Amino acid sequence: MKKQRLDKFIANQLIIPRSVVRKGIYRGLATVNDTVVRDIAFSIDSENDSIAYDGTKIGYKEYVYILMNKPKGVLSAATDKSRKTVVDLVPEHLKRQDIAPVGRLDKDTTGLLLITDDGVFAHNCISPKKEISKSYIVTLDGDINDEMIQKFKTGITLVDGTMCKSAILEKIDKNIARVIISEGKYHQVKRMFGMVGLGVNELHREAIGGLCLPNDLKSGECIEMTKEYLESVIFNK
Ligand code: URA
Repeated sequence: MKKQRLDKFIANQLIIPRSVVRKGIYRGLATVNDTVVRDIAFSIDSENDSIAYDGTKIGYKEYVYILMNKPKGVLSAATDKSRKTVVDLVPEHLKRQDIAPVGRLDKDTTGLLLITDDGVFAHNCISPKKEISKSYIVTLDGDINDEMIQKFKTGITLVDGTMCKSAILEKIDKNIARVIISEGKYHQVKRMFGMVGLGVNELHREAIGGLCLPNDLKSGECIEMTKEYLESVIFNK
């Protein structure tokens, strides 16, 4: 059983300002188990009660989990004063008050990005202790050699002395590689390549743990995922 205030529940599930919802409840727009309730603080059981607002039945989900194919030029943030964010691209039916990207991809990085309002799940994905792998396809401004592959394996030390864990560098073409890291330091991939004398022209995330970006998900598109599926492929639960 999950007890919640009626006004908060409706506002959060439908992304309507609480002040508007309250007026609606006073006007008799909210029903709990088919009975009109005009008390904004009425305590509902969000898992078992049937709630409707303005004729729309509200199907309860505690959290939402969204997989996005992040396009270039969009900020990995929940809000920004002037620039477009990944949350701006989330379709209305998946939007929730507190959704935010799980970790960050640079503005010019593309590919797999998770967005959720489940803070515990997000923390587990990015916590260095969990060592969840992140796989990227990188296009470089020079050629990859065996010495670089070995340096990534040993663990690159960044210019500020930060030590990175062992990473896999797999050559795909002379200047294209797959790189797999198990942490998420600031600009990590670009900084690691900087230490072996290469600049990153394109960076695309293809996987987090066993979760791969679906081939048919176009740039900027989102799909909803279940927590159970994500946990099974990311944390092997
Ligand atoms: N490493 C980077 O340098 N940038 C990203 O966006 C992700 C990983």
